[in-house]
This record gives sequence, structure tokens and C-alpha cells, in this order.
Amino acid sequence: MPAIVLVGAQWGDEGKGKATDLLGSRVDAVVKFNGGNNAGHTVVIGGEKYALHLLPSGILTPGCVPVIGNGVVVDLRVLFEEIDDLQARGIDTSMLVVSANAHIITPYARTLDKVTERFLGSRRLGTTGRGVGPTYADKMSRVGIRVQDLFDEAGLRAKVSGALATKNQILVKVYNRNAVSPDAIVDELLGYAERLWPMVADTAGLLGAMLDDGKTVVLEAGQATMLDVDHGTYPFVTSSNPTAGGACTGSGIPPTRIDRVIAIVKAYTTRVGEGPFPTEVTGDKGDVLREAGAEFGTTTGRPRRCGWFDVPIARYAGRINGVTDFVLTKLDVLTGLPEVPVCVAYEIDGVRQDDLPMTQAEFARAEPVYTSYPGWDEDISRVRSLDQLPRNARDYVAALESMIGARISAVGVGAERDETIAIHNLVPD
Ligand code: GDP
Ligand code: IMO
Ligand code: MG
Repeated sequence: MPAIVLVGAQWGDEGKGKATDLLGSRVDAVVKFNGGNNAGHTVVIGGEKYALHLLPSGILTPGCVPVIGNGVVVDLRVLFEEIDDLQARGIDTSMLVVSANAHIITPYARTLDKVTERFLGSRRLGTTGRGVGPTYADKMSRVGIRVQDLFDEAGLRAKVSGALATKNQILVKVYNRNAVSPDAIVDELLGYAERLWPMVADTAGLLGAMLDDGKTVVLEAGQATMLDVDHGTYPFVTSSNPTAGGACTGSGIPPTRIDRVIAIVKAYTTRVGEGPFPTEVTGDKGDVLREAGAEFGTTTGRPRRCGWFDVPIARYAGRINGVTDFVLTKLDVLTGLPEVPVCVAYEIDGVRQDDLPMTQAEFARAEPVYTSYPGWDEDISRVRSLDQLPRNARDYVAALESMIGARISAVGVGAERDETIAIHNLVPD
């Protein structure tokens, strides 16, 4: 023990990568438990920038075991590209383990993701086009290809042929694309098998044994609460469960072993792709946050939609995940604003609601009710304790903490590892 879950509280890109890295040397394993290379985590260490997609952020911590859990969907080409990139930069990747039960993103899943989006036109979701949705759909339809299948050639051939029997009909007859050859897919996948084999493990068993030995394990989410396929803004969501419950199913660590749930929440809000976003600020005002916060996607480079902090969403994330600690990130980005609006409730059809409504139709009509807090001009990037913060910044943090239902245990004031105000220990003793 202990097992610590780390999730995003909003629509992603809250700074989960930096927060995981911050837990640092006290962590023995970091497990990615959901999603695939739709995620993008930027971690800055000593001016060096690392953009991770598929690998857990723990890969940057010497001595930490990075684990790709059973809940992840793996694009093998991306996996090896990422490993090669890190190795070329002197990062040791030899401890990486990959679950035998993780599903593989096939080339046809990538194709189907892109053609489906194009087909949907104005009804598209704005996916990252990485094949994540179709791969999870195959998993649930029980026609998925798993990591372990690469080591059983006859079984792999049967599974790929079986899956393509229907998919080729769809590709050709609905989307007017060429059929995919099962042999070509099998050959490509088998080409990765030899290099992959030494990394493959029963990761649930391994993690259980580590916890029995008193090791510290962090379960790191990709995406975030509002992108959860069950608890988010469906259908404008990803196809996995990035919430605390998903950490259990996606890793094989049971709920009774989780000691702490840390949610990362940005001092304002961003969203990439389509879907409702009550506090979105469009036009020039949105540009101010986007430029100050460098809000451009790590994965697709798309400009992120920007808006103000939304208290009902943070409180909802607190409840759905059972959050024990929040990490508030990017407070420095708000420096220089004369005042900082915060959405404290919604007005829906003329009625004030303090919490998220039951239906997405209501959420799409929610108008934010704002309270404005006075801003600050001082550079806070060198501040390392709450009492050094300008009074207005401190009041902003205190106001958010009083409304979101759990303590704020750290505050980010810059992208670098040490640009953080530590308040409470994030790793229990
Ligand atoms: P993730 O997907 O949740 O890991 O977040 P991303 O890495 O996609 O986006 C967060 C961005 O903000 C990254 O570029 C981080 O380097 C950066 N970042 C994280 N924390 C802070 C902070 O406190 N201040 C500033 N200015 N940047 C931060
Ligand atoms: P990290 O881990 C922000 C969004 C996409 C799209 C929707 C579905 O960096 O926080 P998908 O490709 O998953 O089927 O796309 O989810 N999305 C993200 N937005 N951060 C992410 O990851 C995201 N991963 C997916 O933009 O709206
Ligand atoms: Mg990201």
C-alpha cells in the first residue's frame, strides 16, 4: 500500500502529466489504466519538454515501473515510436510492462475513426482520430484483438479475419473505401511481436504483489471526468472510463486497496472537440486565456476552447471520483486579469441550479451564474507557499476550495516540476 488514483476533473489537459511527475521518487509504479494515444501529457523538466501519449508519465522517474494496464488501447507503432524517442533522449524505458489483456488499436480501427467522423459531418464528435472509439467498440462487441493474441498466430488470424468479415462490408458498402486484407493486418501486427514479448505481463498480478510488498502505486487517468463515457457529456465523450471506478477495472486493483483519489483541476476550463461547455469564452476574450495558457492540443495541435472555472463541474468530479485532494493547476495563467469570473451555479430555463442537471439537453441550455473575484498583477511563478501569494490570488484559491468539496493540496504556478506550491502531502506515509 498505498494505491493513489489521479484523475482529471474537467475535460482533459488539466496538467495530469506534470502532477504525476510531481509525485516523483516516492512512487514505485505508475499505471495508465484507460484511453490510448488520444491523450497528450506535456511534462517539463529542467527546460526539457517531453510529450507523452501512450506511455505513463512515470516513465520519466528513474526506478519507477511504468505500466500499461488492461484498460488501455495500444497502438503498437506509436508505442515503439515513443519508446525510441525517449531512449534517444537518454530515458531508461526498460522497466515498462504492458498488460497481456490490453486491446490493440488496429489500422482498420484508425481508418474507421476517421471515416466515421467525416461521414457525420456537422454531427461529428471531434475525436482525435487515433482509432480509440472503434477499438473500445470492438472490445465490448467481443471482436477485439488483444496483446496476448500476438503470440498465438493461428488464433490471431482467425480473430482478424472474423472482425474484418463485417468491417470490410461497412468500409466498402457504407463508406466507399477499399476492403482491408486480413493477411496484411496480421503481418503488420506479428512484426511487433518479438519486440513486445519481453514487456508483456500479467499486470494485475504484478500490481497486487507490489501493493502486498508495501509499494506505492499511482493509477494515472488519460482524459477526464467530463469525457467519461458514463459520467461525462455523452455523446461528446471518449470511449473509456477515466474516472476513479475505471482505475479499478482498467488495472485490476480492487476498490478496497485505493487510499487516495487526487483530481487535477485547472484554474479555468478548457475543452477540445465538440460538445457543451457552459463557461466557454469565445472571440478575443477566449484568445487571452488560450495565449496565456498555451492552450493548444499536445496530440492534435488543435486550439483548445477556453472558459472560466466551473464550480458545479469540479464539485461533480469530486463526487463521482470520491476526491480526497485537488491539485489546482495553471493559477499563473490568470495573472494580469483585472477580475476573474467563476461560475458558481447555472440558470436553466430561468431556474437557478447549483449542481449539474440530470439530462444533457438541460446541460446544453445551462447559462453560467458568475461571481467575479478581483485579479492580481504580480508574477507568481516563483511563489512556493500560499502565504507568499498576492492576497487576491490567495483569496481566489480559498474561494474555490470552499466551494469544490475537498481540500486543495497543491497549486501549480508554472509548467516546470518545481513551479508548484505544496500544501499537503499527496503521497500518504
Ligand atoms: P494533461 O493531459 O492533463 O497531462 O495536460 P497537458 O499536458 O495536455 O496540458 C497541460 C499543459 O499545461 C502542459 O503544457 C503543462 O506543461 C502545462 N502546465 C501544467 N501545470 C502548469 C501550471 O501550473 N502552470 C502553467 N503555466 N503550465 C502548466
Ligand atoms: P488528455 O489525457 C482533451 C476528446 C477529443 C474528443 C473526444 C473523443 O490529454 O487530457 P477520442 O479520440 O477519445 O474518441 O475523442 O475526447 N479527448 C481529449 N480532450 N484531452 C484529452 O486527453 C483527450 N482525449 C480525448 O478531443 O472531443
Ligand atoms: Mg493533454
